[in-house]
Amino acid sequence: PGAAGRINPVPRVGIPCVVLSDGPAGCGILPVEGEENYFCTHFPIETLLSSTWDVDLVRNVGEVIGNEAKEYGVDVLLAPAINIHRHPLCGRNFEYFSEDPLLAGKMAVAYVDGVQSNDIGTSVKHFAVNNQETNRMNNNAIVSPRALREIYLKAFEIVVKESQPWTIMSSYNRINDVYASESPELITTILRDEWGYKGTVMTDWWGGADGAAQMIAGNDMIEPGTKEQAAHIIEGVKNGTLDEAVVDRNVRRILELVVRTPRFKGYKYSNNPDMKAHATVTRQSATEGMVLLKNEKQALPLSPKDKNIALFGGVSYNFFSGGTGSGDIHRPYVVSLLDGLKNQQIVVDDNIKAIYQAYNRPQEQGEQMRINEMPMDTAIIKYAAKNNDMAIITFGRISGEYIDRISSDFFLSDTERELVKNVTRIFHEANKKVVVVLNVGGVIETQSWKEMPDAILLSWQAGQEGGNSVADILTGHANPSGKLPMTFPVTLSDHWSSLNFPIDQKIDRRWSVKTGLTHETKNVDYTIYDEGVYVGYRWFDTQNLQVSYPFGYGLSYTTFEYSKPSVKQDNGKVIVEVTVKNTGKVAGKEAVQLYVEAPAGKLDKPVHELKAFDKTKMLQPGESQVITLAVHTDDLASFDEQTSAWVTDGGKYKFVVAASSRDPRGDVMVDISPSTRKVNNVLNLPAAFKK
Ligand code: GLC
Repeated sequence: PGAAGRINPVPRVGIPCVVLSDGPAGCGILPVEGEENYFCTHFPIETLLSSTWDVDLVRNVGEVIGNEAKEYGVDVLLAPAINIHRHPLCGRNFEYFSEDPLLAGKMAVAYVDGVQSNDIGTSVKHFAVNNQETNRMNNNAIVSPRALREIYLKAFEIVVKESQPWTIMSSYNRINDVYASESPELITTILRDEWGYKGTVMTDWWGGADGAAQMIAGNDMIEPGTKEQAAHIIEGVKNGTLDEAVVDRNVRRILELVVRTPRFKGYKYSNNPDMKAHATVTRQSATEGMVLLKNEKQALPLSPKDKNIALFGGVSYNFFSGGTGSGDIHRPYVVSLLDGLKNQQIVVDDNIKAIYQAYNRPQEQGEQMRINEMPMDTAIIKYAAKNNDMAIITFGRISGEYIDRISSDFFLSDTERELVKNVTRIFHEANKKVVVVLNVGGVIETQSWKEMPDAILLSWQAGQEGGNSVADILTGHANPSGKLPMTFPVTLSDHWSSLNFPIDQKIDRRWSVKTGLTHETKNVDYTIYDEGVYVGYRWFDTQNLQVSYPFGYGLSYTTFEYSKPSVKQDNGKVIVEVTVKNTGKVAGKEAVQLYVEAPAGKLDKPVHELKAFDKTKMLQPGESQVITLAVHTDDLASFDEQTSAWVTDGGKYKFVVAASSRDPRGDVMVDISPSTRKVNNVLNLPAAFKK
């Protein structure tokens, strides 16, 4: 009870009921009337996990989430979600990893390996191009084959080739006129024939329309399954349009899934996972995905004299642990920043707290996710500056499934802007510092106000222990090592995709209504991915556009020095080595990135692309570590639509070792021989949209 769905049992032939439950930020079983009420650990959102740039950590988190799901009797966890952050206003970005497909893909491999190490399954979702919530059940994504191959399918290709996800979940939307769940080109030709996928494909819940078409496409399982879809299948077999052998093939793949599940093996799950141990894992891992965006005048970590703190911002007292929708978790508690500071014996001004707690009302589930920030009287701020050692302001945002964010959600509200302006002015007049904490699930505007506070910590939505994790960082018990998995632009319209996204779209054809509309309302019935591969830093860096914080950026309490990189080639691989040294005073970890700049060739290309990354272990002051970054020359290819082939141009490539996409630390030139790898000519643009 409380799981997302199941494979219906057929006791006659010994098929048990197989339980499917959501993630990704934990095990998503919900309380059911009259049933036992089980809490599940709320782990950090996927965007925080990818901000760690630490595949070992993410694997470990996956292992723990998988253990908890298994002990609650779940057979397949419906995670990870790996759609690309095409635009900041997509409601579900909190559930996704990155604007970059390599980072998303490698995080997915780590998560899948971790969860599946428990011998339960995963469902990598949503395959593919589910990058908006507006009219998601029908939206017709018009995407070039090149953008599909290089950006929107790439993370799925990586996870299918490098780990073995038991299942893949096809997406609701159409791709170039065809429902993903009804597309043989996507699900059979690419996924199985080209990538060699051997597992089971299921639909998203009520996804697609024609059950027979879904069978033919190779979408083995329909969830939750409707009578109409069953009728399509029976009808199709009867009238010969659906070959029974196809149905047998799909049924076989479902049975191959069933027989590997704990339930089929009679596993006696305990219903009693170690929640205390899991709480420690989420608290610790969250500190590694928080991103220190600014830290001046040694504002952080707090010094022993920062005894009394004035805590501003309603969300300080009411922290968001994650996003809404199927990714929500029935958690036992959420540690707010107030709680987290108290747990570290830090005194929070009681009067300020009382004012906020009198004003705060818990965010109603499902309401337009607007934060009602309380206007703060400057007289009170003056009192606070006199009676405290420093100030912390939390800005929060909550977003989720079914609905995209509205543009005003991206910017500070007038009340929030007034708050940060007045608190910083008044506390700075008293020569006291101000720290801003961002408890958000997605990107917000920072350029216009980031000069005001002394420090800014992007905490994301860090799970049920979020307030403790933030306090661990503020007090210096943990040294932040997160880096941005997406760009923080100066403003929304800097994203090319802003021209083709349902920004403040009033029409929202609710998700159960199947419309045959594919070319009627722009950004609702169809969305043109006009930007092609120029998503995120691929656009900003190629255009040399100013950004507020670049992809891959994040500060630490210590500093790191990179040696000059060395390079060698070894049967198709370019291997770059760099020594990273902790040149500061406290222990820390550093996420090291490798970007490649290709020589001019037949195709226009982004100025550089992330091709490898790694993270050091905890380095003590003065300690060094050699980091090895390997890139297969095949992965230097761009997709040429004319010849339907991956083409690596011959020539000199620049391999840049970097601390962020805009912080190069050393580079080497490498001669690469040309290569071409043909693939199927599929998923072409509809005639109406051919360039
Ligand atoms: C939802 C989501 C999907 C989830 C499924 C089951 O609509 O799109 O991510 O796994 O249905 O809850």
